[in-house]
Amino acid sequence: MAQNLLKAASIVAAMALSGAVHAGASGAMLGNTCAGCHGTHGVSAGAAPSLKGLPTDYLKQAMHDFKSDKRPATIMNRIAKGYSDADIDAMAAYFGGMK
Ligand code: HEC
Repeated sequence: MAQNLLKAASIVAAMALSGAVHAGASGAMLGNTCAGCHGTHGVSAGAAPSLKGLPTDYLKQAMHDFKSDKRPATIMNRIAKGYSDADIDAMAAYFGGMK
């Protein structure tokens, strides 16, 4: 599990470095970078909580709170800092709109 977390974290880091994650990317594309921990289509099989079906506003608030360190986290605060407000809106709509 720890290995999977590390692998997913390095994928996210590599994508950020390569410029693959930028404003204007679709929610689905951005959301794929979360799948390593939160599961394919937002249904988690591991330590991270499932994202599928959480309210869009809740997802947005959570990401902003992680980004500003208002909400304590083991890893999400570091991840959230890599995303713009537009990215967060797109991802929240993507996961929040899942049925
Ligand atoms: C390296 C693993 C990992 C990745 C990648 C990851 N997360 Fe997380 N996420 C976690 C963990 C672990 C938690 C629990 C909080 C913590 O300890 O950081 C969490 C918590 C969350 C929560 C709070 C859920 C709740 O029920 O309150 C949201 C929202 C979230 N993540 C969104 C995302 C999004 C969006 C992405 C993709 C940009 C993402 N995460 C990528 C591991 C990850």
